[in-house]
Parts: sequence; C-alpha cells; structure tokens
Amino acid sequence: MDTMRWEDGALLLLDQTKLPEKTEYLRCTRPEEVAAAIRRLAVRGAPAIGIAAAYGLALGAREFKGTEREEFLRHLRAVKELLAGTRPTAVNLFRALERAYRRAEELADESVAAMQQALLDAAHHLFAEDMEICRRIGAHGAAVVPPGARILTHCNAGALATAGYGTALGVIRAAHAAGKVAMVYADETRPLLQGARLTAYELQEDGIPVTLICDDMAGYAMQKGRVDLVIFGADRIAANGDTANKIGSYSVAVLAREHGIPVYVAAPLATIDERLTSGREIPIEERDPEEVTHIGGRRLARAGVSVWNPAFDVTPHWYLSGIITEAGILRPPFKEAIQKALAAPKGE
Ligand code: MRU
Repeated sequence: MDTMRWEDGALLLLDQTKLPEKTEYLRCTRPEEVAAAIRRLAVRGAPAIGIAAAYGLALGAREFKGTEREEFLRHLRAVKELLAGTRPTAVNLFRALERAYRRAEELADESVAAMQQALLDAAHHLFAEDMEICRRIGAHGAAVVPPGARILTHCNAGALATAGYGTALGVIRAAHAAGKVAMVYADETRPLLQGARLTAYELQEDGIPVTLICDDMAGYAMQKGRVDLVIFGADRIAANGDTANKIGSYSVAVLAREHGIPVYVAAPLATIDERLTSGREIPIEERDPEEVTHIGGRRLARAGVSVWNPAFDVTPHWYLSGIITEAGILRPPFKEAIQKALAAPKGE
C-alpha cells in the first residue's frame, strides 16, 4: 500500500484519517487540496508531509499559465507559503519546499514549462530519496536491537509517515528481518491514535508481532520488565540533539530512564535543524480542542471544558542513547556528532 503516489497528473494521498477501517485515496490536483490534507492529517509524519508538500508545489506550478519567469516565481512563492503554513513543527516540510523551489529558481534561463517539470521531478526525487534514506536508517538501526528484543514505540514513524518503510518502524522492520524482534509495544498515542490506528495496523500487515497498549500503560510495561528498548521518530531535532516528536514521547523517555532502558530516535539528517541551539526554540503545534474532547467524532468531555492540545513535546538530548540516521548512529555528545554528520559529504 502506498502512502502517496503520482498518477495521471494527480497526487493520490492515502487518507490516513480513515485507517484502518477504510483504504481510500484522496485525488489532489490543486495545492489547496494538498494543504488541507496535511492540515487535517490525511497525510502526516514529518518526511511524508515534506514530500506531499513538494508535490503540492508542483501542482501549484502547473496552474500558472503565463510565460514570464519572474511572475512564475512570484506565483510559486505564494503556493510555497500556503503549503508551509499548514503545520509548524516538522522541519522536513520547510526543507522539502525550499529544495523544490530552489530547483526551479536555479533554472534561470529555462522556460516556465521547464521549471514546472523541474518541480515535479524534484518531488519525485524527494520521494525516491526518502525511501532510500529509510532503508539506510533501518540497516544502521538494526545493529542496536538485541536478539529477542521487546521494543516500545510511540506514534507512527512507519511507512505511512514516509515515502515507505519508515524511520523508527524501518529499524523495527530491518531488525525483524534479522530475526531479532520478539514484540513491539505500540502506544495508542492519544489524541489522534496514530499508534492504535496506524502503527498496530502497519506492523500487523507485515506480520511483525505487535501489542497495543494505552499510553498510560508504558510505565507499567517497563516496570514489569517487558521493554528492552524504545525507538521513536522525530519532527525536528535541534543542534544539541533535543528532539521534538509526538506528544507523549517525552514521558516515555523519562520513564525509560527510570527503568534503565535505552531510548533511540530514528530520523533522516534532514530532520535536524542546526539553526536551533536547543529544543526550547522548536515551534510546537497546538491543535483543535476537539481532538481531545472527542474520539472518532464522539464527544467524551462536557462542552465548554478548557482544553490544551499540544501536538508535540521535546525530549531533552540527555535522555537519548543515540539518534539513528542514514549516515549512521549519532552518539552523545550530540552537538559534536551532529556537526560532524552534517559536515560530512553526502553518502558518507
Ligand atoms: O502529528 P503527526 O502524526 O504528523 O506526528 C508524527 C510524528 O510525531 C512522527 O513520529 C514523526 O513525524 C516522525 S515520522 C517518520
């Protein structure tokens, strides 16, 4: 099953709000449709958001009917702003849009048609590149998984959150292929239940043993000796290794520390925002209170109750044993390891 694919001039997005009951694809032909899909989490997960946005930019580029280059770039910047305004935390969104936009800008002497094609090619490239990156993250990460491992993960950092294969779930997939995974504990991940709806589903589909738990069961699972390691994804990593991921990741990391369980983050290098010195600078998205007061469209809390709904939290770097990237596993001290990894020529 594809998270997204380009077909007959349209972006088909698997509507993740419908999973696991229904497998339905949204057919997007306009950037506004892609933006709306990102906003309501029909497509979600840091890398997938970035790739979908790049396709959204290509769709927006196609709507321009003129031939004047500067006018085209102005139009493109407006589409870029629209897509960039959808979600604030995952840096992959801004990175992907910037990369695609620059690709068009670079073609200074080419026609508008050539720039339009370049934007579509850039989106295809981001898609293929992410697939390759996830495979490499998986291969590197499998090394930290002990035989017979019981792994706890939070949210969904799987094939559904990327072009395919996944980051945290990529590590789990690679470790499972090596015969090392005894059990994956999937936190349900309130409020939007990405763990229950997506991670449990993805792992079941692949025949990887998975046990679903409510978020508040993680501590007890650890206390009972049921968890050997924790792996989750990232939406943005600061220069010192502080990591923003789905709300609740921080609680899991603190619990793991109390129980002497290693915590790994799995993410592409593109998730590192080296401009931010610490996690305090990472913008944290706050979402609609209805996500907390309701489940599956059904109201649980009394109307009028005050709600706070931050979508992400920041795990300070000192809770992490390593950050698994396509370039290898970064170990503490993270600041130095990150600097070195980002300075290394690509492919190293
Ligand atoms: O709100 P979401 O579902 O987009 O949040 C997703 C996560 O927090 C993931 O763990 C993160 O984006 C990494 S995906 C490889």
